[in-house]
Amino acid sequence: MVIKKVGVIGCGLMGHGIVQVAAGGGSTVVALESEQRFLDAGLARIDKSLSKLAEKEVEKGKQTAENAKAWVAAVRGRISGTLDRKALADCDLVVEAIVEDLPTKLSLFKELGSICKPSTILASNTSSFPIAEMAEASGRPERVVGLHFFNPVQLMKLVEVVRTPKTSDEVFAAARAFGESCGKTPVACKDTPGFVVNRLLVPYMAQALSMLERGDASKEDIDAAMQLGCGYPMGPITLTDYVGLDTTLSIIQGWVKRFPSEPAFAVPRILEQKVKEGKLGRKSGEGFYKWEGDKKA
Ligand SMILES: NC(=O)c1ccc[n+]([C@@H]2O[C@H](COP(=O)([O-])OP(=O)(O)OC[C@H]3O[C@@H](n4cnc5c(N)ncnc54)[C@H](O)[C@@H]3O)[C@@H](O)[C@H]2O)c1
Repeated sequence: MVIKKVGVIGCGLMGHGIVQVAAGGGSTVVALESEQRFLDAGLARIDKSLSKLAEKEVEKGKQTAENAKAWVAAVRGRISGTLDRKALADCDLVVEAIVEDLPTKLSLFKELGSICKPSTILASNTSSFPIAEMAEASGRPERVVGLHFFNPVQLMKLVEVVRTPKTSDEVFAAARAFGESCGKTPVACKDTPGFVVNRLLVPYMAQALSMLERGDASKEDIDAAMQLGCGYPMGPITLTDYVGLDTTLSIIQGWVKRFPSEPAFAVPRILEQKVKEGKLGRKSGEGFYKWEGDKKA
């Protein structure tokens, strides 16, 4: 099965990036949003990102200004926007990248199951919910996969391709090939909490916060230790601020609820406390560190 037309639902932080890399890979893409202002904002982000990428290519001498301009026009020409879900009916693949709320996602998958042609593959970019639940809601579980991209989508090279016990081999292979067409390296994973990356990363962040809570080491030293000792680009406390304390907390709380006997899933009290205080990390200006925009104050 070859994927030529792609629908992306949600043109926010992740969705606009998925629209862009899919169009960059040659697919025709329809971006669906809930409101015109969000659609306009998502498309404007894509325009900005494409211009920046083209500029860099010219600066590095990889492309002439004329070719870069033609490339931007060609990619942009494959993208259209809509507020009408029915526009997704004839897509070969639809990728959902809406808000991380399970009931909202389940009702969307139910609707997609009735709107889209029978062969359409449905995918979710969820970070924490079981793909199988969305698959059942769609009424076509064999045609549902997880396609978990990473932020920022335009730059991060990985996509996790998640299969449930019911995902067909044909659908899985097509989703994997689509990930490659977006310029990503796909890794295969079963439908497990956090897939590969977050299953390892989130408990690691939680362990670092528990260490801080016990007073074993300062936040600066924990971060420096993991940067210098392991070569990580940022330490776990800074990373938590970066991801968002509320997001991190809601992922761990969801896992604790679903898997109460798994010892790796535990909510650090210090994290709950900070969220209660409205200290959500970089996005609120303060988490474990103080922030000025993208930089630590
Ligand atoms: N932010 C990350 O780093 C990251 C990384 C990997 C995966 N994810 C997952 O990607 C998904 C999207 O996250 P995000 O950070 O891009 O969120 P976001 O809030 O930036 O974007 C979500 C967009 O979806 C739109 N939307 C909401 N409901 C809709 C609906 N019913 N129909 C159409 N559009 C709708 C919103 O208007 C918004 O623009 C979530 O499932 C999240 O878990 C996020």
